[in-house]
Amino acid sequence: MRTHYCGQVTESLIDQDVSVCGWVNRRRDHGGIIFVDLRDRDGIVQVVFDPEQSEIFEIAEQIRNEFVLHVTGRVRARPQGTINPDLPTGQIEVVASALTVLNDSQTPPFQLDDEDVHEETRLRHRYVDLRRPFMQERIRTKAAVYRALRSFLDAHGFLDIETPILTRATPEGARDYLVPSRTQAGSFFALPQSPQLFKQLLMASGFDRYYQIVRCFRDEDLRADRQPEFTQLDIETSFMNEDDILSLMEDMICDLFAGILDVTLEKPFPRIRYADALHRYGSDKPDLRIPLELVDVTELMREVEFKVFREPACDPQGRVAVLKVPGGAALTRKQIDEYTDFVTQYGAGGLAYIKCVRAADIPSGLQSPILKFLPEEVIAQLVERTVASDGDLLFFGADKKQIVDAALGALRVRVGHDLDLVEPGWQPLWVVEFPMFEWDAEAKGWSALHHPFTAPTCAGPEELLSNPEEALSRAYDMVLNGTEVGGGSVRVHKAEMQAAIFEVLQIDPKRAEEKFGFLMRALTCGMPPHGGIAFGLDRLVMLMTGSQSIRDVIPFPKTQNATCPLTDAPSPADEKQLQELHIRLRPGTH
Ligand code: AMO
Ligand code: AMP
Repeated sequence: MRTHYCGQVTESLIDQDVSVCGWVNRRRDHGGIIFVDLRDRDGIVQVVFDPEQSEIFEIAEQIRNEFVLHVTGRVRARPQGTINPDLPTGQIEVVASALTVLNDSQTPPFQLDDEDVHEETRLRHRYVDLRRPFMQERIRTKAAVYRALRSFLDAHGFLDIETPILTRATPEGARDYLVPSRTQAGSFFALPQSPQLFKQLLMASGFDRYYQIVRCFRDEDLRADRQPEFTQLDIETSFMNEDDILSLMEDMICDLFAGILDVTLEKPFPRIRYADALHRYGSDKPDLRIPLELVDVTELMREVEFKVFREPACDPQGRVAVLKVPGGAALTRKQIDEYTDFVTQYGAGGLAYIKCVRAADIPSGLQSPILKFLPEEVIAQLVERTVASDGDLLFFGADKKQIVDAALGALRVRVGHDLDLVEPGWQPLWVVEFPMFEWDAEAKGWSALHHPFTAPTCAGPEELLSNPEEALSRAYDMVLNGTEVGGGSVRVHKAEMQAAIFEVLQIDPKRAEEKFGFLMRALTCGMPPHGGIAFGLDRLVMLMTGSQSIRDVIPFPKTQNATCPLTDAPSPADEKQLQELHIRLRPGTH
């Protein structure tokens, strides 16, 4: 039927006959001559219908956008003045000698070249949306990324092994998607939040190097970089320490960027400790393209009169920090108010500032409603430590450490974008030495920062149990341009240590046995030391294609409220199905 894709018909085929198939991108009637831009996944070619070929000309008069055509014709050079240098096929056109309309089409729900279509409309008609060249490009890039990663891992001795989708809960910190069992009344499968436990069991089985491109399911609040189902490149290895794993993963990512984007990333990627990342950037996924850092002034503010600063400075869990905005003295009152509203979303109580403006009427060169509360030496120290100069502005965060980090960390990114300070290029890094546990104030207990199978840096279970708040983990995250693209760890491979972690997490032995008995038994049956990582492939491809949201690189994504406008999933189940599943709905749910 077809000799060439539309995008392949170039000057080298002049005077030859070709057959192409595709969709009508546009039809133009030029007083007696009809031009059709025919589109397929490879590109667009111009087809010409001459009225002298009256039989097909009559059909051509009827065709509309998005009709599906099969055209045969002779390739010829376009006349002078009609050449389109922007198209690979812009030098030629196909003079049609045969035309079949393979299918007609209703007027499409939106113009394919319209850049402003509402996302809900795009998702509802995703099959049309995906025809658009920029969407085709993204999906093709995703396929190329998968191919490159597989080929790297295959070449390095990794085996592609599958793990179950109907399984038990795997704790990664989100809610589970549950699937009711018909055969076991009142019991449920959980869809995996990740294949974590299975990949560890595969190490117990001696496979040594495992990988899988695998769907994971997490019922959590959605954002631009989160979907309820997403794809991981999941990896596990035995007998490798963190240096071995990180270095191999750097090789893989460098290989990927070189192959797909022709970009050379520098190795080794910088490593930064979790505590330092928060201290310097207010974030555990710092965007290093933004050349701004927080300056800590906690100890400087311990004795000032200004309560807003003094109290958090004296609180062992408090912090006072400064974000210097170069040229920020030019910010208007309104802009400062907007930034103040912005940090409030992160729990900040306000956003004190000092402007550095050298002017005749301001002898100190500084301008701020809070200056009167700060002694001169403190002000002098502030200027010195922040290296503030004429035209700069200092923003202050003063609160519990977590709030200051979150507020100034987010402000750093926002200001970086607003003031065009983001440097071009790629800034990968590793964040390492995470705490093992974080305090969950609501549950009044410790929870695992990574997952509970992550090994601590301390030597034995006694040390961990005696001092959980100080314990650091052998976890690592890969961050790229401010997005966490991957995370993993060296795992616990001794049952005693695993039991100690469950104890800190207040999972009593009976519950631990119920939920993770199979893992505990594997740990006592010759489990080798092992570790691994998982990359969020949708996120990685989002970054690599310059997309704003991971929905743009997932063919059929869910909306912000975890529904699918295309299929209208999720949808009510029939009574009969529910009965078979032993389920009765609560009154008022449907
Ligand atoms: P983690 O939970 O950090 O680790 O997940 C690994 C990577 O998956 C991506 N990711 C997501 N992408 C899209 N939507 C989501 N809802 C979502 N959640 C996570 C992120 C993240 O870095 N089993 C461990 C890995 C390991 O220890 O080996 C795990 O799943 O890019
Ligand atoms: P107030 O004394 O509440 O009027 O605050 C004086 C200045 O300090 C204002 O500019 C507030 O925005 C700012 N401010 C108040 N609370 C905080 C805080 N927790 N961190 C930083 N600045 C604050």
